[in-house]
Amino acid sequence: MNKTEPIILAITAASGIIYGIRTLEFLLKNEHKVELIISSKAYYIFEQELGIEICHDKNIIEKQILDYLNIDNKNQVLKVWLDNEIWASPASGSYKTKGMIIAPASMASIASIASGLSENLIARIADVMIKEENPLIIVPRETPFSAIHLENMLKLSKLRVKIVPPIIGFYGKITTLEDGIDFIVGKILDAAGIHNDLYQRWD
Ligand SMILES: Cc1cc2nc3c(=O)[nH]c(=O)nc-3n(C[C@H](O)[C@H](O)[C@H](O)COP(=O)(O)O)c2cc1C
Repeated sequence: MNKTEPIILAITAASGIIYGIRTLEFLLKNEHKVELIISSKAYYIFEQELGIEICHDKNIIEKQILDYLNIDNKNQVLKVWLDNEIWASPASGSYKTKGMIIAPASMASIASIASGLSENLIARIADVMIKEENPLIIVPRETPFSAIHLENMLKLSKLRVKIVPPIIGFYGKITTLEDGIDFIVGKILDAAGIHNDLYQRWD
């Protein structure tokens, strides 16, 4: 796969921040360029779930995330945008990317994307992915789903958005929570067309 164009990764304010972070870790360690947007509403959940107090400054966010993952950025593989930077490069369809992953995706962000609101950078880039027919992978996190959630996801699915819920298949010798997270991240990367061996495939 061409590693020069970035993949956009968005983390929104839903439980399961680890799915986004583990996806980021895989991409950076395999030298894929990533442009990361963390929804400002997700800062609280970062603290709750990962113990990281995210700061509203993109240079500090970059350092916090790289320190957490114990990765250096000497090859400039990570770029961070704030969710209010609607002038960011990926907000334009003329900017070339490999597509976008939203993990986890809140029902609020999914509703915003399904109705084309583009009210923040995450929703705008998703809108661009849909209009340009570029890959968009959404990892919805809520349970149970209401008819509103399901209708929004159906609408997006009909627009060729890949809906990848974090549902573990237990055929892959899952014994720890990390195995389960890797199974989901492997499925997210599969949906984005990124080779990985994060889970045991059915043979
Ligand atoms: C601790 C916590 C956990 C939440 N978990 C979820 C969740 O799993 N799924 C969801 O759709 N919303 C969840 N929410 C609600 C969203 O955070 C809320 O709708 C928010 O406006 C979404 O913003 P965003 O999509 O712009 O990031 C949670 C909120 C809190 C405070």
